[in-house]
Amino acid sequence: MSERAQFVTRLGAIAATVGSAVGLGNIWRFPYEAGVNGGGAFLLIYIGCVFLVGIPVIVSEFVIGRGTHKNVAGALKQLAPGTKWHWVSYMGIAASLMILSFYSVVCGWIVEYLFQAITGNLSGHSAGEYSAMFGGFVSHPWRPVLWTVLFLCINFWVLRRGIKRGIEKVSNFMMPILFLILLVFIVYALTLPGAADGLKFLFLPDFSQISPKVAIGAMGQAFFSLSIGLSCILTYASYFKDSDPLMRNATVVAVLDTLVALLSGIMIFPVVFSFGMQPEAGPKLVFEILPNIFQQLPGGYFWSVLFFLLLFFASITSTISMSEISISFFMEEHKMSRKKATSVNTGIALVFGSLCALSFGVLSDFTIFGKTLFDLFDYASSNIMLPLGGIFFAWFVGWYVDKRFLDDQLTNFGTSTVSVWRKPLMFCIRYFAPSVIIIIFLYGLGLFDALL
Ligand code: PFF
Repeated sequence: MSERAQFVTRLGAIAATVGSAVGLGNIWRFPYEAGVNGGGAFLLIYIGCVFLVGIPVIVSEFVIGRGTHKNVAGALKQLAPGTKWHWVSYMGIAASLMILSFYSVVCGWIVEYLFQAITGNLSGHSAGEYSAMFGGFVSHPWRPVLWTVLFLCINFWVLRRGIKRGIEKVSNFMMPILFLILLVFIVYALTLPGAADGLKFLFLPDFSQISPKVAIGAMGQAFFSLSIGLSCILTYASYFKDSDPLMRNATVVAVLDTLVALLSGIMIFPVVFSFGMQPEAGPKLVFEILPNIFQQLPGGYFWSVLFFLLLFFASITSTISMSEISISFFMEEHKMSRKKATSVNTGIALVFGSLCALSFGVLSDFTIFGKTLFDLFDYASSNIMLPLGGIFFAWFVGWYVDKRFLDDQLTNFGTSTVSVWRKPLMFCIRYFAPSVIIIIFLYGLGLFDALL
């Protein structure tokens, strides 16, 4: 049997996992969610969710992945032989392909904006023209498809190179650059007049803003941002070494992911406030408002290229991670070569990604359950499949897996001492996380709408 790939270094394993977690969810979705949900109050609950629900689910996925060194279906078959539990993996694989399809569309927009920024077309327009530009682009009959396809080809190229030469190398190289670019932006943003108002908005919680809806929004953001519930983190953990400390890695990933979200907020809100924009601008924030702001700054060309480059880096390390779920499944369960598995993954994403890319134009009237394909994939994966997967992984590790297996994983086969965090962690895995996730899930189904 050929030896299964592993991340070469502990740092590489962490960089790749952080690379998965850090993406559009942090840099684009977090500021927009925080903006819509009142800033500081949202942030407070978000951080609570990351640490009390997110870390337990990350550790659960780590335990299953690293403990078996298998793809998600293989792992569940090994740990629950003769049962139907591995069917849960099909939901994760389907969710990963759905997320990859619509996520690649937004990545395609980023490549288009990067291209426009490089060619100098992102400057010299009025605010209205930026809105029209974005609207015209996303509804164009083929341009969004072209960029989605191009993005998926780059994604394919990285994945084809495999774990060590592809994923680990790209992550090692890109994650530090990402931090660096964010820091440069922050230094600049903080020197703008009115920057303090942006910081106040983000960091001073207005407790009157706290509501079940804000709490649930923060929880959903934590799930998406940490890439949990669909076995993405599980798949990466299957490439960890037996000596990698799981609890510590989980904490590092959660802390760094939260840090990038915070840094994005610290970068974006001072700029938004300084230019008298509305923090509630929503998903358009990045594509319509920021180019307008960049052109007003000295060195605007440089800033806009840098910003979209940063978004590109952040998103490709996420798409390669979501692709790896199905690639490892095809390779190990269906005995495909890496090349073939990657081609199947990319082929599926090309078809559905192109259809999603047309959801804002030619196919905007094609709806299922009242949603365009793009919205449906987003809704069904994030609001239904992810929470269901999260409940499962926490429950599976908390109640089902063999106690010795769990001990071996949490203590690295007895080589590290049982940490003081073990008891609170197990409490969260067994009781707290599943109950809270059930609440999000019900909310995702719209069952609380009447109450909120
Ligand atoms: N965590 C990524 C982000 O914040 O953009 C999104 C993501 C990546 C979701 C990988 C799911 C996944 F499997």
